[in-house]
Amino acid sequence: MAETGNESKNTLSIRDNRTGRDYEVDIHDGEVIRAMDLRQIKVNESDFGMMAYDPAFSNTASTRSEVTFIDGEKGILRYRGIPIEQLAERSSHLEVSYLLLKGELPTESQLNAFVHDVTFHTYVHENITDLFEGFRYDAHTMGMVISGVSALSTFYPEAKEVGDADTRWEQIVRLVAKMPTLAAYAYRHHRGLPYVYPENELSYSANFLNMLFRIGTRDYKPSPVLERALDVLFILHADHEQNCSTTAMRVIGSSQADPYSALAGSMAALYGPLHGGANEAVLRMLNRIGSVDNIPAFMEGVKKREERLMGFGHRVYKAYDPRASIIKRTADEVFEVTGRNPLLDIALELERIALNEDFFVERNLYPNVDFYSGIIYQAMGFPVEMFPVLFAIPRTVGWLAQWQEMLMDPEQRIARPRQVYVGAGERDFVPIGERG
Ligand code: CMC
Repeated sequence: MAETGNESKNTLSIRDNRTGRDYEVDIHDGEVIRAMDLRQIKVNESDFGMMAYDPAFSNTASTRSEVTFIDGEKGILRYRGIPIEQLAERSSHLEVSYLLLKGELPTESQLNAFVHDVTFHTYVHENITDLFEGFRYDAHTMGMVISGVSALSTFYPEAKEVGDADTRWEQIVRLVAKMPTLAAYAYRHHRGLPYVYPENELSYSANFLNMLFRIGTRDYKPSPVLERALDVLFILHADHEQNCSTTAMRVIGSSQADPYSALAGSMAALYGPLHGGANEAVLRMLNRIGSVDNIPAFMEGVKKREERLMGFGHRVYKAYDPRASIIKRTADEVFEVTGRNPLLDIALELERIALNEDFFVERNLYPNVDFYSGIIYQAMGFPVEMFPVLFAIPRTVGWLAQWQEMLMDPEQRIARPRQVYVGAGERDFVPIGERG
């Protein structure tokens, strides 16, 4: 920071009207100032210095990242620079996982090796099934999977060596491989069905569908259309830069916790209905609305703020979520196999109204990724409790890519925001008998 000048420069001038002093702050990356540059703005030498107050981090960048790019105004999403539309059309979830985790698309031999490693780490220790047996028959599958991921840290104590690149990579492969197994086991427990072990000759999504739905026959074959649709849904959910759960992953990881414990924390963040729990909330909302005739009354409730239109709105997107457009197309393909989900009519009518009525247009409330995904999942036979789990499986890749980037970033330290204390000043302890 230096005194102000008048020439055109990549800096920001700040005048502190309390003191009349001028400051000049460097602008980085086109439109960013460093919050620490504000610290020198003081009235007295003994002051702490100026801070930015930003509840919910609405306008604060916590990292410089190379993983995912979003332009919320234009509805653009790219992983490592590649548009999501191209990846959904031409790639596979494991290829996209490699791209997110390593930064580049794999060569054929790199992809084969990665697919092999993931495939051969899909089994979980048998004691995990004992853990799942401890849950009630109606336990929510997300709670079970969070516990399962957290428990994995006890099976791999070496995971604490987060500074060691080889150890880190081994845990990354394990987590990508074991998440579908944990998810399928949670589902089978929920349904009171025996666990189906992973089949190494199947693809990532086909193996998952097999572990979920195979009953009484060894040659269960998932529909290739559903296998591909699930893979596309996984690609679309794999990363979304600094959202709530990814921030949780980075914050927990910044204390150098092992990745299993950190990932359990980010899954907990995802579970909430404003984040990855929204797909479940959408389905419950559509069921509650019940028929197209009930939509006008429901929408009146939304406008009166008695209701929230789940699956609409986004902190970043102020245009149609590009993932929602792809999911809508995928839904048509799935319905050709499963039959049309009757909830689709309600969803389409809600979307039609929302895209035309002032209340929604003024607030940029467009369908987000969760609006149509639940309708597909339901048509594929998943109970609503599995919806957030279906989000967590692919997002594991994003969490791990961001966790790795955080650990490698020399600017990152343990996450520790400031606060503005607004509580009581110093006062004396009052013994319990004297309190009124
Ligand atoms: N239904 C009705 N009104 C809404 C909605 C909605 N879904 N979302 C936002 N608004 C209104 C909100 O009431 C506010 O109005 P006003 O300015 O008059 O007070 C305005 O729009 C801005 O909303 P906000 O709550 O300040 O926006 P936010 O950026 O804090 O919240 C959100 C983003 C995603 C949490 C919110 O839009 C929401 O709750 N949506 C429904 C839940 C949902 O679908 N979540 C999934 C998000 S996408 C996947 C993911 O990230 O996990």
